[in-house]
Amino acid sequence: MSKLLITNARLVNEGMIRDADVLVRGQRIEKVAANIAAGEGVEVIDARGCYLIPGMIDDQVHFREPGLTNKGDLATESAAAAAGGITSFMDMPNVNPKTTTREALADKYRIAQARCSANYGFYLGGTNHNIEEIKKLRVGDACGIKVFMGASTGDMLVDDPAVLEQVFEHAPMMVVTHCEHSPTIWENEAHAKKKYGEHVPMSEHPNIRSANACLQSSSMAVELARRHDALLHILHLTTAIEMGLFSKAHRSEKRITAEVCVHHLWFDESRYEDQGTRIKCNPAIKSAADREALIKALNEGRIDIVATDHAPHTAGEKRRSYFKAPSGLPLVQHALLTLFDLAAAQQISLELLVDRTSHAPADIFGVTDRGYVREGCFADLVIVDASRSHKVEQSNLLYKCRWSPFEGHEFSSTIDTTIVNGEVVYRGGALTGVIAGQRLEFTRPR
Ligand code: DOR
Repeated sequence: MSKLLITNARLVNEGMIRDADVLVRGQRIEKVAANIAAGEGVEVIDARGCYLIPGMIDDQVHFREPGLTNKGDLATESAAAAAGGITSFMDMPNVNPKTTTREALADKYRIAQARCSANYGFYLGGTNHNIEEIKKLRVGDACGIKVFMGASTGDMLVDDPAVLEQVFEHAPMMVVTHCEHSPTIWENEAHAKKKYGEHVPMSEHPNIRSANACLQSSSMAVELARRHDALLHILHLTTAIEMGLFSKAHRSEKRITAEVCVHHLWFDESRYEDQGTRIKCNPAIKSAADREALIKALNEGRIDIVATDHAPHTAGEKRRSYFKAPSGLPLVQHALLTLFDLAAAQQISLELLVDRTSHAPADIFGVTDRGYVREGCFADLVIVDASRSHKVEQSNLLYKCRWSPFEGHEFSSTIDTTIVNGEVVYRGGALTGVIAGQRLEFTRPR
């Protein structure tokens, strides 16, 4: 069995930063200790001057397969994810055909086989009509049940109150929700149209997809989960006023958890001026005060997970006017780099970064043997050089859509190496061509 030794790294793991070597044997970590001797036939990676972290587990991506592969596919977007230090991803059901039956789910797992550069799990999508499919799901069939409690890309709104009751009552695994109250948004849209006609400026987006629309919907999700004692994870929170819904308790003690996405930690509404519809997404990027409140909540433990909501659309689609441009932006290649920059600016610590991108998603979703640099766990590892900057240019983008809101930006860190299941998949600025992603396994989390 092949062996790989990573030496001289600064290991960030389980709340500590320390010097450690990591020995990998086959797909798993064999030993974590100071000064491990290489031995014969062992490939050595010298990580001197770099951080070593467990790979990010991104619990929210839209890789667009099947059916929307002009925007992205499982192979292209998982390669971009691996280049960004994301070693596992959980993909959303708003594809074509929608992943709303167990058969469609099984098809998606078949399509993914031997094509993903990172490990994969897929959600089953809830609809107003598929409660019987939801009831039949078993732990491990999916990473969770996705419920659009607000309409977004892909027409998957679940707005029948009786169905929502049933989903929260019967879900055999975690329910993850997109929370925006659609009737409020439609009303706000009508007001904006009256004022501006078809030429609504992008700066209206956070007024249309308003904080109030978010709060109404997330409050309802929390109330439903409490009443039915369901496991609930609310995706991509964006507002200060929603933060009071979430407890600061450790994730092991709560059944309702929260997620924030990197673009909501990075951008605020002042950026609509230069970015325009490129940063149009749902829920909308909101005010600077909201962004600050998200960072505070992340530090307090009210927010448990940082993800991306990677949602590529073609450059042509994104150039359209406000109502016609689709919502979503590509992020997986630069998510960890944005977080390392937030750490460099002392808005979060590196220990917290690793907790919220690796340990927490592994614990909350019950991902088997991943998310930690521990003996016996799969070797999903990332070496980050925080002393070498990385400038984002179109030529170094791996997304099929070939654009990024970060083009021209220089991050202060570089992803040096990504290892998935013990295989080096990305190193020194290039993919190695090894396709090492496997289907994620899940155990019942709590
Ligand atoms: O901005 C978004 N884009 N939000 C979503 O909820 C869906 C996503 C997409 O699929 O494009």
